[in-house]
Amino acid sequence: MASDPFWLFGYGSLIWKPDLPYSDRVPARLPGWSRRFWQGSHDHRGLPDAPGRVVTLIESAQDRCDGVAYRVPADAAATVLAGLDHREKNGYERHRVKLETSSGEALEALIYVAAPGNFAWLGPAPLAAIAAQIARAQGPSGSNREYLQRLAESLRTLGSDDDHVFALEALLPSDKT
Ligand code: BEZ
Repeated sequence: MASDPFWLFGYGSLIWKPDLPYSDRVPARLPGWSRRFWQGSHDHRGLPDAPGRVVTLIESAQDRCDGVAYRVPADAAATVLAGLDHREKNGYERHRVKLETSSGEALEALIYVAAPGNFAWLGPAPLAAIAAQIARAQGPSGSNREYLQRLAESLRTLGSDDDHVFALEALLPSDKT
């Protein structure tokens, strides 16, 4: 199937583990949205009876979400979209948004968002409770702790000041393993 090339905005594990072919990678920001650990993960960083928490985006006019935009070339576009639709089947839906790159360029991109009320939605909770849940959870893709720590490291590298992510990282109980 012929497809057009597209930009994909990564704001979670796509930042450090894109696992997709791309021809360009640029730091970018998404105005009007906040990143939150409010989506349950029953299939990657948790299990059906012990879900982890992963990020989704919440509309928030005053905020912005920092991440990375990937340019997916035409010859890979259909396969990449089919793969992401499958990987993100746990409540995420595709949206089209406008990004700003770090050099001030405007980019139209696809994002995956898990909306409030989807079947895997966990929603807000006290930060200490979210951190404790993340510290416990494990799934087929690895520990939920690793997901949070790698996200925090990647955001530091990007120069982002994401208070929600850094507060959760600071609240993680020490790793006894
Ligand atoms: C990501 O940016 O890693 C991402 C987050 C949620 C769904 C799909 C991708």
